Amino acid sequence: MGCGSSSSARPTWDPSAPLASGSDKEVFIGSFKGEPVAVCVPKKQGQARLHAEIRALNSIGRHPHIVALVYTSTLSSAHGFYFALEAVEPVGYDLDRCIKQYLFAKQGVPSNLIRTLIKQLCSALDHMHGKRIVHRDVKAENVLVTKNYDAKLIDMGIACQCGIREERWVWASKTYFPPELCQGLVPQDTKVSPLIVGKVIVEVSVIDPGDDCAIEAWG
Ligand SMILES: Nc1ncnc2c1ncn2[C@@H]1O[C@H](COP(=O)(O)OP(=O)(O)O)[C@@H](O)[C@H]1O
Ligand SMILES: [Mg+2]
Repeated sequence: MGCGSSSSARPTWDPSAPLASGSDKEVFIGSFKGEPVAVCVPKKQGQARLHAEIRALNSIGRHPHIVALVYTSTLSSAHGFYFALEAVEPVGYDLDRCIKQYLFAKQGVPSNLIRTLIKQLCSALDHMHGKRIVHRDVKAENVLVTKNYDAKLIDMGIACQCGIREERWVWASKTYFPPELCQGLVPQDTKVSPLIVGKVIVEVSVIDPGDDCAIEAWG
């Protein structure tokens, strides 16, 4: 472990083995108080986005289908700025992978599973909307799937308060965020979420034609 002693006072992780490396941060699987955590360390240009992510997670609070913030280290601390989230296991398993796994096996995705995961995603977004926060980067890759097949929404880096108006293009290989909101022509609003969830549903609804529950799945 390069970053941290064996003490449980703060998270420890192996800095030579990132799980993921995005434009703003690296994510490592580490440990904190005997539990696995996902440690998010900013890249040079990513500090502001990680601060925003911490602010959003603190405002959102706890929800069973939103990843929980478990530790924050500030820039002035001896070990620099980073934060740790509860680790969602199996590591690396998200809604996109879940779907692709079924497709790879040439199977339709069980409609009950999709219905459960989408309902849990809606519950997470509903909770955020209650705090007047818009996620802005909802997509299958940002919905992790636990070993019990429960959804956990992650990646609050561009979440924002409702009502703000800003030009913010999402420079990702995939985004469902509408151009008028990226352009800052209209204030940020939770009203956009049903449209985005609809796009996720279309993306993941590769349902087995022989699945009797498929028709009633969205009832
Ligand atoms: N709490 C977590 N538990 C397990 N893996 C995580 C967790 N948070 C992030 N990851 C992994 O790190 C990847 C990148 O994290 P994310 O917050 O989506 O950052 P980015 O902005 O780079 O997309 C995710 O796709 C996932 O594989
Ligand atoms: Mg992401």
